[in-house]
Amino acid sequence: MDKMCVAKSPALKGEVHTSGAKNSALPLLFSTLLCDGEHVFHNVPQLMDIHSTKSLLESFNCEVSMSGDVAKIYVKPPAKVEAQYDFVRKMRASILCLGPLLSRYGEAVVSLPGGCAIGSRPINLHLEGLETLGAEISVEKGYVIAKCKKLKGERISFENPTVGGTENLMMAATLAEGETIIENAAKEPEIVDLADYLRKMGAKIEGDGTSIIKIEGVDQLRPSEHRVIPDRIEAGTLLIAGAITGGEVTVESCVPSHLDALIYKLKESGFEIYQEKESITIKGRNNWGGVDITTAPHPAFPTDLQAQFMALMAVAEGTSVITESVFENRFMHVQELVRMNANITPKTRVAIVRGKPGCLQGAPVMATDLRASACLVLAGLVAEGETTVNRIYHLDRGYEKLEEKLTKLGAKIQRVK
Ligand code: EPZ
Repeated sequence: MDKMCVAKSPALKGEVHTSGAKNSALPLLFSTLLCDGEHVFHNVPQLMDIHSTKSLLESFNCEVSMSGDVAKIYVKPPAKVEAQYDFVRKMRASILCLGPLLSRYGEAVVSLPGGCAIGSRPINLHLEGLETLGAEISVEKGYVIAKCKKLKGERISFENPTVGGTENLMMAATLAEGETIIENAAKEPEIVDLADYLRKMGAKIEGDGTSIIKIEGVDQLRPSEHRVIPDRIEAGTLLIAGAITGGEVTVESCVPSHLDALIYKLKESGFEIYQEKESITIKGRNNWGGVDITTAPHPAFPTDLQAQFMALMAVAEGTSVITESVFENRFMHVQELVRMNANITPKTRVAIVRGKPGCLQGAPVMATDLRASACLVLAGLVAEGETTVNRIYHLDRGYEKLEEKLTKLGAKIQRVK
């Protein structure tokens, strides 16, 4: 099992490019199930989750070819509309094939994703939404069995915004009869990116990016071509790498407006940030202040940057109160940071971080989920001595060549087989 060895590094300096967004590429790849023919995507990140999606699409009779950052998916009618447990347990986002398969073929059998380290991750909102559109849903032996001859447009109101639920319902509604209105929809940039591609396929969608999305069903869609938006979470992680080492880093090929909440908090903490059309530069400092954050659905502070920001706060001057309002168990990185001598007191959904510059000491630590592993790498960049991050397969699910990007900026990091 690979490990990442990180040594105390000098202030990171230079430019680094952001890859395409994992959390946009995944729903985009599943949306191809809505119509036959060849779909082409550019700026697709080379990640484990993308390869898992490739295998799942191939199990639906699709021909998938990836070369560099280009993915070509040739979709044909699948022999069966079943997503096996083995695929779904490896990647919960596989549940995003449910809406397209049900809407296109009138039935779908998809394994329940099960929980993960950061929370129980239920899909009740996905299923209730599809039932509202007329689907008959049953759960048998760990599989969701959904049936409906033809979905009918309806008004759906989510009790809380759900990214995956909004994506599944938006895709399903494109081929339903009549108009679907999704209220309290998620507003993440990845929702807008998916809607942009669905519109290129001929879908009639408006309001994406706001909490009310309207979809007018059409009879048929046609394949098209699309460029995946930059990964705002990777961009934010790279910015924090510049900040925590007191360096000067320019993150290029990103969308600064996707990171408003992080940029606001970095400025509040004392950092200087400069934005161009497609890049953000952070100028490091020797010390910075502790600031409070509360994660919430976009455009609030993203839960996917909470762990990384906590590493920065662990070596800030002063206390910060970090509230995780999206997932019920997303503090698994806290104990690992404490092993590195951080002073953090976790409560149920709140962690009190008593920051102290230079307090971190290198140690062997364990990654528990994708963003926790990034947090531990960032902490390792400034900890005295060497930090070994174990189980970095979590990292490989969501970051493309992170160690190469950080090394290019001057980090002392290497992957050990
Ligand atoms: C997406 O997960 C992302 N994954 C997550 O990124 C991200 O953390 C999350 O959105 C929130 O931004 C992908 O896009 C592939 P949700 P998703 O449905 O869609 C509850 C990463 O690190 N909920 O918005 O699963 C749920 O338990 C990953 O890249 C229900 O109760 O998130 C959670 O508390 C981690 N019932 C909250 O809503 C449901 O039916 C938000 O979940 C669905 C969700």
